[in-house]
Amino acid sequence: MDFLRLDIQDNGVGLLTIERPEALNALNEALLLELEECLTEISKESRIKVLVITGSGRAFVAGADIAVMHPMGEEQAKVFSLLGQRTFNQLSNLPQPTIAAINGYALGGGLELALACDLRVASEKAKLGQPEIGLGIIPGFGATQRLPRLIGTARAKELLFTGATISAQEALALGLVNRLFAPDELLEGALALAADIAQKSAVILRYLKTAVDQGVATSLAEGLAIEAQYFGVCFTTYDQKEGMGAFLEKRSPRFRDC
Ligand code: CAA
Repeated sequence: MDFLRLDIQDNGVGLLTIERPEALNALNEALLLELEECLTEISKESRIKVLVITGSGRAFVAGADIAVMHPMGEEQAKVFSLLGQRTFNQLSNLPQPTIAAINGYALGGGLELALACDLRVASEKAKLGQPEIGLGIIPGFGATQRLPRLIGTARAKELLFTGATISAQEALALGLVNRLFAPDELLEGALALAADIAQKSAVILRYLKTAVDQGVATSLAEGLAIEAQYFGVCFTTYDQKEGMGAFLEKRSPRFRDC
């Protein structure tokens, strides 16, 4: 892989690092296509129960590649937007829980990448924002849709309309990130959070993620029906019998992910 590195730990945690530090990991077509291919492999990789994504160098991802976009016309820009959206949808739809470990700048397409993850943790020194308005464009990799769903329409519009870059502390207050870590403790903290989740049943985590994601995309009534359906499906698994059996026997569960 030219732009990505994937490390798989024995504890079920996968660490995907974006490696284009000379351009602050800016996203060009080749990087997005490589990411798409890599996510397809990860979706089938049973050794990865939780995925952490981070950036190499001083940025998480500083956005889509501005030099690549500058000469584009309408059709090319739309195709580029659809490529980014397809890739980030694939990330969002991964069966495994995902955590963005935001080590530095997460701007434009970089924040959109983080928004497609289930959880976001950040360095106390990270900077986040959707600066597209200042470039004469709107976001094209999902922020107009995922940001308001995450932090509310008015807060999202303020970030989108001003293009402001905000601190990690402001992002935490907005609910844009889940937790902050000291810069040199970020990766360790993200991996520890991932390892904690990876100890749970992979199959039940998958039902849980699906129930939440399908539910928030619909009405409360339909969402509750989805919850009841997956609640029932849990009882067809080995891990439900093991999890409840372990409680009744006053011991720790030994999940088999089936
Ligand atoms: N695209 C292309 N190259 C980028 C880039 C980007 N988004 N962000 C940084 N780079 C490149 C710079 O051009 C520079 O390259 P050279 O060394 O060859 O000149 C290198 O990365 C280092 O960047 P800086 O010298 O600018 O570093 P800095 O510390 O002075 O500033 C920064 C850091 C504030 C993040 C600044 O680089 C910056 O503002 N980057 C652009 C951020 C941005 O606007 N992102 C949104 C892009 S649009 C988008 O993402 C649309 C969408 O939704 C799909």
